[in-house]
Amino acid sequence: MHILEIKNLHAKIENKEILKGINLTIKSGEVHVIMGPNGVGKSTLSHVIMGNPNYEITEGNILLDGVDITHMQTDERARRGLFLSFQNPPEIEGVTTADFLKASVATKEGESFKMLSFAREVDTYMKRLVMKKEFLTRPLNEGFSGGEKKKMEILSLYMLKPNVAILDEIDSGLDVDSLKIVGEHIKAYQEEQKAGILLITHYQRLLSYIQPDFVHIFLDGSIKKTGDATLVEQIEQNGYDNFKKA
Ligand SMILES: Nc1ncnc2c1ncn2[C@@H]1O[C@H](COP(=O)(O)OP(=O)(O)O)[C@@H](O)[C@H]1O
Ligand SMILES: [Mg+2]
Repeated sequence: MHILEIKNLHAKIENKEILKGINLTIKSGEVHVIMGPNGVGKSTLSHVIMGNPNYEITEGNILLDGVDITHMQTDERARRGLFLSFQNPPEIEGVTTADFLKASVATKEGESFKMLSFAREVDTYMKRLVMKKEFLTRPLNEGFSGGEKKKMEILSLYMLKPNVAILDEIDSGLDVDSLKIVGEHIKAYQEEQKAGILLITHYQRLLSYIQPDFVHIFLDGSIKKTGDATLVEQIEQNGYDNFKKA
């Protein structure tokens, strides 16, 4: 059983307070969804959880399995089982997809890393995701289509096997077929690993593949309401206005 606890988290960037007291607990096997308008701080929250040094935490803390990780380096958080899929996956010139995956997995596994089992797993998961082998020798994400970048994120997820995964708008810019693949694989991963999942999304569509246990409405730097999947329908129909008044 793994648990990520976020307690009264406040953070700022460029002297502007973006996160204004976030409380959120994610346990193994739970699927949480954060929905909210643009610019309210959803991506900021995911960056702060992962330890992006551009943000300053001014109050509160983050615990993973009871250990305070609030000020730990990103790679240490990853070793402890946290994973973030970026809203805009970076293109990395000069680093092939294979090198990137190998470095990430080797960092996470340390001395127990084995090249042979790594290679086997990459092969298995790429087949599952219907990804061509040539991606391995291409520079990471360079010239990948939107759908290919997101599949790459799912491949990283499978390879790194995090206990808690944060997926920031993993469904944005996907056509219906790619969305189905991505949605079904997140679900498969979550069930296989009994992982805790935090999905940040604008759309109900992804949630037809992976059903949320908790839906959080995020407005102006904090979670204004938490409920079940029925909240998603309310948002689809009426937008966020009703929650702003509350
Ligand atoms: N580097 C930065 N400097 C100043 N403001 C920033 C920076 N990065 C993000 N912000 C601001 O933080 C707010 C929240 O952004 P973000 O977390 O990306 O929102 P969301 O993901 O909910 O759309 C926005 O107003 C954005 O302009
Ligand atoms: Mg965002």
